[in-house]
Amino acid sequence: MPQIIDGKAISAQIKDEVKEKVSQLKEQGISVCLAVIQVGNDPASSVYVGNKKKACAYVGIESLSYELAEETTQEELLSLIRELNQKEEVNGILVQLPLPGHIDENAVIGAIDPRKDVDGFHPQSVGTLCIGQPGFVSCTPAGIIELLKRSGVKIAGKECVVIGRSNIVGKPMALLLLRENGTVTVAHSKTENLKEVTARADILIVAVGKPRMITAEYVKEGAVVIDVGIHRNENNKLCGDVDYEDVAPVCSAITPVPGGVGPMTIAMLMYNCANSVSLQ
Ligand code: GUN
Repeated sequence: MPQIIDGKAISAQIKDEVKEKVSQLKEQGISVCLAVIQVGNDPASSVYVGNKKKACAYVGIESLSYELAEETTQEELLSLIRELNQKEEVNGILVQLPLPGHIDENAVIGAIDPRKDVDGFHPQSVGTLCIGQPGFVSCTPAGIIELLKRSGVKIAGKECVVIGRSNIVGKPMALLLLRENGTVTVAHSKTENLKEVTARADILIVAVGKPRMITAEYVKEGAVVIDVGIHRNENNKLCGDVDYEDVAPVCSAITPVPGGVGPMTIAMLMYNCANSVSLQ
C-alpha cells in the first residue's frame, strides 16, 4: 500500500511552528493581525472564514472580522480595503472568494496592498513568484510543496504534471514546482490524450474539479498523487478529484480527502501572516 500523506498532521506541525514564531515576535513587541472580509453569507465561505479565525486564535494572531451584507457595493468594499491598507496595525488582508456577482473580483484583489496580500492573489504577488523574488505565495499550492517536502518526496528533476490551470492553484503550482527544479507540464480541459500526459508523471497534482475523475489508468506505477479536489459523493461523503480506492494500489504516495491538501491551505495562510511582518 502507498504512503498516505497526512495533511492533518503536517498542517498541525506548521501551525505549531507559526505559533512559536508569533510568540517570538510578541517578545520583541510585534503583534500580528489579519483582517478577514466576507461579503454575503454563502454557507461554505462562512465555514472557511470561521476556520481561518479559529486558526488565528490558535497561533496567536489577532483577527479582525468584517462581515458585510450581500448588497455591499464595490465602492464600499474598495473603501474598506483602502482603509485597512493604511492601518499600520493590520498586517494581512483577506477577502473571502467568491464575491457576489456585482463585484469585480480582480478590482478587489488589485486594491489590496501587495505587502498585506496574505492570499498571494495580487498580480504583484503572482509576478514575484514568477520571477523568483520575495512575496506572498498562494496558500494551497504552497501547502502542497510543504506536503511533498515533509513527506520526503524529491521534486528536483522529476516529471511533474499539474491538471488544472486556475489562478489560485494550477498556475502558481506549476511555478512552484519549477522553482523546485521539477520538469513541469500543465494539463487542462483542452489537453488531448490526457491519460498519456498524466501517465508520464512522477508527481501528479490533480485540480480538475470533477469528483473521482482520475482513475488508475491515468497514473504511472509508483507515482506520487496529490488530490486538490473536494466534493460530496452520492452518499454525502467527502471525496476528491482522484478515485482513491482505484489509484492507491498503483501509486507510491497519495493524499486522502479529507485530511490531505485541505488542512494545508489554512496552515499556509497562518505562515503567510506571520511572515508578512518581515515584508512590511
Ligand atoms: N475561496 C476559496 N479558497 C479561497 C482562498 O484560499 N482564499 C480566499 N480569499 N478565498 C477563497
